Amino acid sequence: MNLTFTLNGKSVTVNVEPDERLVRILRDELGLAGTKAGCYRGECGSCSVLLEGQVVPSCLVPAFALRGATIVTIEGFARTKEYAEIVRAFEEAEYTPCGHCHAGRLLAIHALLERNPSPTEREILAGLSGVRCQCTDVGSLLRAVNLVAYSRTRKPRARARP
Ligand code: FES
Repeated sequence: MNLTFTLNGKSVTVNVEPDERLVRILRDELGLAGTKAGCYRGECGSCSVLLEGQVVPSCLVPAFALRGATIVTIEGFARTKEYAEIVRAFEEAEYTPCGHCHAGRLLAIHALLERNPSPTEREILAGLSGVRCQCTDVGSLLRAVNLVAYSRTRKPRARARP
């Protein structure tokens, strides 16, 4: 089937089987290797992307559900100031996720803070629970998310100054 959707701000058309999974379309058809493939069962979260602004495991999204959808992968998100903000917080918090979960964590943190700008520790852990890699310690992850949250929530006040 021919399928058109918006990917990282641009319209793309692919010809794929209706039940082909988004992670394979991204990696194999479109050459976007930043979305990692892991379990293919929706359990590890390594394949996470933003679908209509929500973090989803792309291994569970069939092609037929993509018609007209808006997808953002790490390649698209990497062009945003929010990406740079999160990467900076990772460095400040000495949070160093591995290459397998890095993209998923970034997207999950962004999506969490979009819907909940000042999450509690419990809300952070719940909001990021879809990416299950245990490559780094939880303390530095929490510090990183809190740094991003602080940075984002203080911006309106900063912009309001003369
Ligand atoms: Fe999609 Fe593991 S590969 S959740």
